[in-house]
Amino acid sequence: MQSLKNKSILLVITGGIAAYKSLELIRLIRKAGGTVRCVLTKGGEQFVTPMSVSALCEHPCYNDLFSLKDEAEMGHIRLSREADVIVVAPASADFIAKMAHGYANDLASTTLLAADKPVLFAPAMNHMMWENPATQDNVKTLISRGMTQIGPDEGDMACGEFGFGRMSEPETILKALSNFFTKDKPLAGKSALVTSGPTYEPLDPVRFIGNRSSGKQGHAIAAALVDAGAAVTLVTGPVSIPDPSGVHTVHVETASQMLTACETALPCDIAICAAAVSDWSAEASGQKIKKRDDGTPPSLKLTENPDILATISKHAKRPQLVIGFAAETNDLLNAAKAKLQRKNCDFILANDVSSDKNVFGSDENHVYLIGSGHEEDWQQSSKKEVACKLVDFVTRHLADKANQPIAAE
Ligand code: C5P
Repeated sequence: MQSLKNKSILLVITGGIAAYKSLELIRLIRKAGGTVRCVLTKGGEQFVTPMSVSALCEHPCYNDLFSLKDEAEMGHIRLSREADVIVVAPASADFIAKMAHGYANDLASTTLLAADKPVLFAPAMNHMMWENPATQDNVKTLISRGMTQIGPDEGDMACGEFGFGRMSEPETILKALSNFFTKDKPLAGKSALVTSGPTYEPLDPVRFIGNRSSGKQGHAIAAALVDAGAAVTLVTGPVSIPDPSGVHTVHVETASQMLTACETALPCDIAICAAAVSDWSAEASGQKIKKRDDGTPPSLKLTENPDILATISKHAKRPQLVIGFAAETNDLLNAAKAKLQRKNCDFILANDVSSDKNVFGSDENHVYLIGSGHEEDWQQSSKKEVACKLVDFVTRHLADKANQPIAAE
């Protein structure tokens, strides 16, 4: 049972069919012990009425920036001052753009611009609107300013299409709210960089060298770090899974792009390199390579890619804690120890990727933690559990370091 006892939530309902779910959200917040005040935009009013909103929250529904009565009683400034947190649900593409660009042309946007409270927002829109780079850039801006994204989910849309853009269910938003208040955030104030997924190295405009990494492990680590309160930049190669909520995600294709994005994210406190970076790139042909009449295959000129983990570990802006992965098919632990030394990182998570283990694309993983005298078998578990264990380990490690006496010269 989620508890929001004595918590005051300012719910901003913007224009989208998902607004009807916000009525249920009001009910759930109140059932969990919280109080709700609502701001309804003109767009929101097309989907739910001020009457239903105020009846459910048992407070007036605020919808007019220039209402003398509301301004005298409450005002757009006091609306946020009297709340513990602001939730925008549904957050339409238009309202996300307004928040990102600092518009203040109605009560909701003015309240947000004048807000001094944390903001959670639950996007809801058509999947093409969600995937549009304009929306994605706006969302990144909001996250970089500390706002927390909830969802969206994948599924059938009101418009009949299918994809990402459905507002998270009211129960999920309630859970995010309750986590926000109750959860221990041991990594609050820390920043982390995570790499994930494969890299694609082009051979020509249509072919590339790639690998089977799904990104599931790296993305789960980024999500677990955010849950623990860290500000996370995730640099990911091409994957088919969604960006984790609340993470600043940078999409790249090649190893060299991944390195540039990682160096841009420095300095940070923690780096976890889970990407399966291609070891080589090819001199890519500008045109599609054709089969030859005599049947001889083309010869590829490969060059070794930069080692991102090793570069970060030796960087002038080296994070305090650098952790890599070692995916091996044989002699796992010895190979991992050699990699730990060669790459100068603090710890390695070694995993056996022999074909009988089916790690690629799977939701499960079996890793060993190696480094600083540790050799722990974390047993077969879900990739999410591995991520949580790793974040616990990172938290304990940083706390131990902080408590260590400073060595005498
Ligand atoms: O050398 P190997 O690819 O097995 O090393 C694995 C570790 O090094 C992983 O943490 C991976 O993310 C990282 N790596 C890297 N850049 C490369 C190759 C590997 O960051 N070019």
